[in-house]
Amino acid sequence: MICSSNERDILFKKLASKIVHNPYLDRTLVSFQGNKYAAFSSWFKYREGFSERLVTYIIENSQLQPGILLDPFSGVGSSLFAAATLGWQTIGIELLPVGCFATQARIIAQQINLKLFKSIIYELKQINFIDYSDQSNAFNHLKITQGAFSEIDEKKLVGYIYYCNKFIVDKEIRTLLLYAAFCILEDISYTRKDGQYLRWDYRSGRSKSKKQFNKGNILTFEVAIIQKLKQIELDLMVMRFNLIYLVIIYHYCQKINCLILKIHNR
Ligand SMILES: C[S@@+](CC[C@H](N)C(=O)[O-])C[C@H]1O[C@@H](n2cnc3c(N)ncnc32)[C@H](O)[C@@H]1O
Repeated sequence: MICSSNERDILFKKLASKIVHNPYLDRTLVSFQGNKYAAFSSWFKYREGFSERLVTYIIENSQLQPGILLDPFSGVGSSLFAAATLGWQTIGIELLPVGCFATQARIIAQQINLKLFKSIIYELKQINFIDYSDQSNAFNHLKITQGAFSEIDEKKLVGYIYYCNKFIVDKEIRTLLLYAAFCILEDISYTRKDGQYLRWDYRSGRSKSKKQFNKGNILTFEVAIIQKLKQIELDLMVMRFNLIYLVIIYHYCQKINCLILKIHNR
């Protein structure tokens, strides 16, 4: 184990001649930042993850034939999905429910009824979720989560969860709607996760540090949830469009192939 920067420097000097700098593997690629604009993985900020482009890069440069990829610490499934896109079968193991939920939501999203999802988003826009929140479905807070949201936004969040569980019949769409709410928790809260620490915005009244922390714009529940649902809808539309596009190209190529074969057989 390397304990101090001095020892690290010594080790670095010792191995310097063996270290090859690969400019492709920049900071964004090896961290979560590389997922910022990627469909699915940008929906929820899973800071412990690494970018899917990194996994794609590693697999493509490994010269391995597609087989079974096992990720025993699969987080939100970045490696699994990246590998699956390249034709691998995948198995993931993850300890935290957060990672399992994100993985499950992504699998569901890929096969969801998009037309129905769109119409439900439209329906949700008309609803005042406060009407569905009362003491019976309020959060059972732990001390650490107490005061994380403004009172009004917490009520709307609770009402939304209640509404989805009670009135959204399609199980897959319900899961995706609940996942959307999960994805916006930080956007609507007074907190921000920094490494292993939870920082509290001064507006929460809970900040203990002398220096006031201002996390910037805190979205209202309605704005955040509709933004998130629209992002999901758009990503799914683009994905379907790409698929249709690929199918058309595939058929087109097959036709050309047939034509070439016919010409060849003449
Ligand atoms: C660095 S993250 C993996 C990130 C993942 N490859 C991704 O990009 O989403 C490591 C993961 O291992 C999980 N983990 C830690 N100990 C574990 C264990 N004993 N069994 C299963 N998962 C575990 C953590 O919950 C965490 O999500």
